[in-house]
Parts: sequence; C-alpha cells; structure tokens
Amino acid sequence: MKRTIALSFLVALVGAATWFVMRGPNAAPPSAITVDRSPARIERGKYIYEVLSSCEDCHTERNWKKFAAPVLTSLSGGGQVFPKELGLPGQIAPPNITQDPEHGLGKWTDGEIIRAVREGVSRDGRALFPMMPYQSFAKMSDEDVQSLVAYLRTVPSINKAVPKTKVDFPVSIFMKSAPQPVTTVVAAPDKSNQLEYGKYLVEMSGCEMCHSRKERGEVVSGMNFAGGEVFRVGEFEVVSANISADPETGIGNWTEQRFIDKFKGYANFTNENLPPAVQVNFTVMPWLGLRNLHEDELKAIFAYLKTMKPVRNKVESHPLVASRL
Ligand code: HEC
Ligand code: HEC
Repeated sequence: MKRTIALSFLVALVGAATWFVMRGPNAAPPSAITVDRSPARIERGKYIYEVLSSCEDCHTERNWKKFAAPVLTSLSGGGQVFPKELGLPGQIAPPNITQDPEHGLGKWTDGEIIRAVREGVSRDGRALFPMMPYQSFAKMSDEDVQSLVAYLRTVPSINKAVPKTKVDFPVSIFMKSAPQPVTTVVAAPDKSNQLEYGKYLVEMSGCEMCHSRKERGEVVSGMNFAGGEVFRVGEFEVVSANISADPETGIGNWTEQRFIDKFKGYANFTNENLPPAVQVNFTVMPWLGLRNLHEDELKAIFAYLKTMKPVRNKVESHPLVASRL
C-alpha cells in the first residue's frame, strides 16, 4: 500500500515536472483582423519602426565600427544574430521581419504579426525570448500596432535565413510565462496629458530596459532608470547613464532644453560622416533613431522622467579599461 502511494506520488511529480517543461505559453488565437493600409498609417508605422521603437536596430545587421552602429539600410529588417559578448543566455537572433515569404513575415496574417509584437507568441505558437520587448509593446495602442503592420507590409523582401534563437536552460523554461494575451482595447495615449504621453513614449522606446541594471533579466529593485547596465560588443564596453531624477548623478538638474539639445546634437551625422567607434564614444544608445523624436515628444519624455524616483548612482559610461584603449 505504502509503495503504491509513493509510486503514484512519484508519477504525479514527474507528470507535473513534464508539464512544466513541455507546456506552451499562455497564447490566445491571433485575431482575424485585416489592417487598413492608408498612407498615414504606413508613415506612422515607419516612424515606430525606425525611430520610436527601434525595431530596425535589433532586426538588422549593423556597422559596429562606426559611432552608434548605424544599421545597414539595404538589409533593413533582414534579421541578425546578437554578438556573444552581450552575455545573453544562448544564441539570440532577432528574425527576418521583411515580407520574404520563406524567411520573413510574408505568409503571416496581420493578426499573427500583432500577436507576436504585443503578446510574444510566434506564428507556430512558441514563446518569444522577452528581449523582444513585447511586455512593453503590450501597451502599444491598437492604432499604432496596426500602423506598424501596415508599414511592415511595405518593407522590401530580403531572402535571408537567420539562425533560430536557442535559449539556454533553464531560461528557456521560465520565459514561457512571459507571453500574455492582450484582451482589451488599447487606446492611444492622451497627448494633451504630458505625463501620460511621456509614459507611453518611454514604454515604446525601451528607455527603462537599457537604463536599469538587471540581474537574471529582471530590473534590480529600486534601480529603475538609474543606469549601470553594461553592454559589450567586440572590444568595446559602454554603461548606460543614470536618467533618474537624481540631481547629482542623474538628470535631475538638467533643463528641458539641455535634454532636447542632447538628442538634436546628433542631427548632423550621416552615414558618411559618422566617426569611427572607439572606446570613449562607443554606444548602444539609439541616438541615430531617437534624435528624430519630435520636440513635443522629447518634452513629454523629459517631464515623465523628472517624476521618476531619484536614485543616487554614479555611472561612468565609457570606462577606460587599459585593454580596450
Ligand atoms: C531589443 C531588441 C528588439 C527590438 C527593439 C525589437 N525586437 Fe522583435 N525580436 C527580437 C528578438 C530577439 C526576437 C526573437 C525572439 C525569439 O525567437 O525567441 C524578436 C522577434 C520578433 C518577431 C517574431 C518573428 C518570428 O519569426 O517569430 C516579430 C514579428 C518582431 N520581433 C517584430 C518586431 C517589431 C515590429 C519591433 C518594433 C516594434 C521589434 N520586433 C523590436 C528583438 C527585438
Ligand atoms: C539600447 C539601449 C538604450 C536605449 C533603448 C536607450 N538608451 Fe539612453 N543610453 C544608453 C547608453 C548605453 C548610454 C550611455 C552612452 C551614451 O551617452 O551614448 C545612454 C545615454 C543616454 C543619455 C545621455 C546621458 C548623459 O548623462 O549624457 C540620455 C539623456 C539617454 N540615454 C536617454 C534615453 C531615453 C530618454 C531613452 C528612451 C527614449 C533611452 N535613453 C533609450 C542606452 C540606451
């Protein structure tokens, strides 16, 4: 008798463990929507792709030898494999998101693309590695995500296979809890409410993801916007700046104009005149995209950041390590 109980307990345990490892993500079927592709929508989608949400930066090969690593525009959306030195858990490869029917999104329905972007579920139902910022994009308004799809449909096909993402165990198991269906209407933010608008823009452009130190993929509690996250690519290293409201180590004593000027200061760079990347200027901050944010958007972002908890954390963004000079 005792043995039977022990055995059934074991069977239950193995069953539970198997379920945990094999289960799929929390996925709802994709919506049957057909997105309206008006010129205004396509233009807005392009802006989200290139400027606001830097989709292009992750999903395109880049020239790391130049300041701010410009994307190779002729390969836009063609996908890439992230460099190993970034220290990611496995081989992480933002896929081809061009209209190529074989390697890209050419055969996907509009609803499937929207589900991948906001809910983190690929066409085949698997969970996407949450470096793809779907947990933030879950808040992308219905209008914006539809504009994005309208634009993606115009991205020229690139017939290029990208190796599949392979996430290491145990992250591969835990990340299955990240996808969540978006079940309600997501309204656009009220632009006349500067803080609400700023919060939306910050969410869509990944400021917090880069500007907060993380451990095991999670923001270290209380360190939101306080910088200190290290990025290594090739021989170079850069540490994200403190953009919390701390007056000494963050941007607490910056004026709105200084904040705007910082972004607009990169306006004159073109692919031709970009300086080479060296340790003292090396960056992953998407200056080349974000410099094109509209002034009212920068003002809203600044106003919102000013309301963030000041965190004292002195950061040296370009540490001069002897071996990297
Ligand atoms: C920080 C980098 C990053 C940014 C920014 C980013 N992505 Fe991704 N994206 C990824 C990664 C990594 C994957 C692959 C995850 C996986 O396969 O598990 C991915 C996957 C996807 C997929 C699923 C493709 C497939 O074959 O399963 C789509 C669609 C997509 N991204 C679209 C977008 C769009 C549109 C944007 C901008 C709104 C965007 N991404 C911004 C990194 C990024
Ligand atoms: C892909 C990562 C990444 C994203 C996304 C990102 N940043 Fe940064 N940012 C950095 C890094 C790294 C630095 C430090 C190096 C530099 O100044 O270029 C930086 C620097 C800055 C600076 C300069 C601070 C100083 O003291 O000079 C400001 C301001 C800034 N970021 C604001 C933002 C805002 C606002 C957003 C969102 C709209 C954002 N960043 C998104 C990585 C990122």
